Amino acid sequence: TYVIAQPCVDVKDKACVDECPVDCIYEGKRSLYINPNECVDCGACEPVCPVEAIFYEDDLPDDWAWYKDVADSYFAELGDLGGAQAAGPSGKDPEQVTALPPQGE
Ligand code: F3S
Ligand code: F3S
Repeated sequence: TYVIAQPCVDVKDKACVDECPVDCIYEGKRSLYINPNECVDCGACEPVCPVEAIFYEDDLPDDWAWYKDVADSYFAELGDLGGAQAAGPSGKDPEQVTALPPQGE
């Protein structure tokens, strides 16, 4: 799966959302999250993020490796909703993201 890491937090550009053929990039409160059960690894989202927040899971920088767990936590709570468009923003983040100080400039 692909994973969204820290540069997305408090930025949420959402260019990635329009690229995803399976609509598996879900909006939380401070970040977006890719559903690892729904992502088909097409990779279309990765180059369009202006802040380079998206990585293939094996290519995550060490400091951000925990963002894979963040996505797992997010979908463990919300479940597989079968489409981000219909689901809409959840207004929630996993506690690891909630705990971050304000990001972005
Ligand atoms: Fe976030 Fe980049 Fe998408 S900032 S919403 S991962 S385009
Ligand atoms: Fe969608 Fe990106 Fe996966 S475009 S299918 S979330 S690699």
